Amino acid sequence: MKQAINTLLQETLDRLASLEDAQELERLRIEVLGRKGKVADLFKQLRNSPAEERPALGKLLNEARSRLESTFEEVKSQTAEVPRREHVLDVSLPGRVPQLGHLHPITRVSMEITEIFLRLGFEVVEGPDVELDYYNFEALNIPKDHPARDMQDTFYVTDSIVLRTHTSPIQVRVMEKQPPPVRIIAPGKAYRCDSDMTHTPMFHQVEGLVVDKDVSFGDLKGVLTTFVHQMFGPEVDLRFRPSFFPFTEPSAEVDIQCVICRGEGCRVCSATGWLEILGSGMVDPEVFKMVGYEPEEVTGYAFGMGIERIAMLKYGINDLRLFFDNDLRFLEQF
Ligand code: FA5
Ligand code: MG
Repeated sequence: MKQAINTLLQETLDRLASLEDAQELERLRIEVLGRKGKVADLFKQLRNSPAEERPALGKLLNEARSRLESTFEEVKSQTAEVPRREHVLDVSLPGRVPQLGHLHPITRVSMEITEIFLRLGFEVVEGPDVELDYYNFEALNIPKDHPARDMQDTFYVTDSIVLRTHTSPIQVRVMEKQPPPVRIIAPGKAYRCDSDMTHTPMFHQVEGLVVDKDVSFGDLKGVLTTFVHQMFGPEVDLRFRPSFFPFTEPSAEVDIQCVICRGEGCRVCSATGWLEILGSGMVDPEVFKMVGYEPEEVTGYAFGMGIERIAMLKYGINDLRLFFDNDLRFLEQF
């Protein structure tokens, strides 16, 4: 018994001398001094030893235990002071650079378009994505059962509520609220049941509306030409192509030269060499009547452009759906 006590004391002191770190120290402490440790074992054995030897052995064991406890304390305070090599903080090492995100290309193009029109004196307004049939169609001179409704494949929420198929309902909301003059743009999302290389079910438009005395088609051409040249550079070709919208008369669509094939004809431009970016025209007197404007006193023009189409042309992207796949390999290029 006496021998066992001395051996445990000596062995433990030896092991304490060659310890590596605080974790090992704690493991050793539990092994020796823990509730089920080696010292506790010896105290148990003490009960079975001869009664006359017990006081002396008990004293020896108690002394050994206090010696061990104080040595553990001592070693512990030293280990804490001298951490191992791996735990040293080297402040001269270069930091880890966090991965930065950036704005989506559609957001950037939308901001760029907005800035150009702000410089031309336009004000920015917004409208709801979930829209009344009245604003999306009726007030824009597209009554129920009118064939013009087929021009846009509509997502209906109820009979009288739709996901807006274009940003044009914002025109009506603005004119209902304020008297002329009006000079606004309205960027936002539009929804149509439509999907191929140049169409997605959700896309973005920027609506424009100018109403005042003596606004002419020449003003419309001037502003849109200025816009295209600021956006794509003065050398880019554009053309006004006669078109039809129930809410404008006369109407024109604007195409710009296809940047994918440089006008040669490819899949993106359906072999025409041109890509449509917007619809426009002089506000139809019927629309003025709906909002209580006097068609004899004011005239105006409006346009609605597709932001994705403009982004496609700006960055030479041949499939519009790439913008919404959220593939980082694509998005990180901008
Ligand atoms: C309109 O939406 C009219 N509201 C535009 C307008 C406004 C005319 C004011 C007159 C006055 P259109 O359906 O052609 O017109 O769409 C306008 C533009 O939105 C298109 O030139 C195209 O660039 C874009 N566009 C239309 N559908 C999609 C689609 N599914 N995906 C992506 N872009 C689209
Ligand atoms: Mg069109």
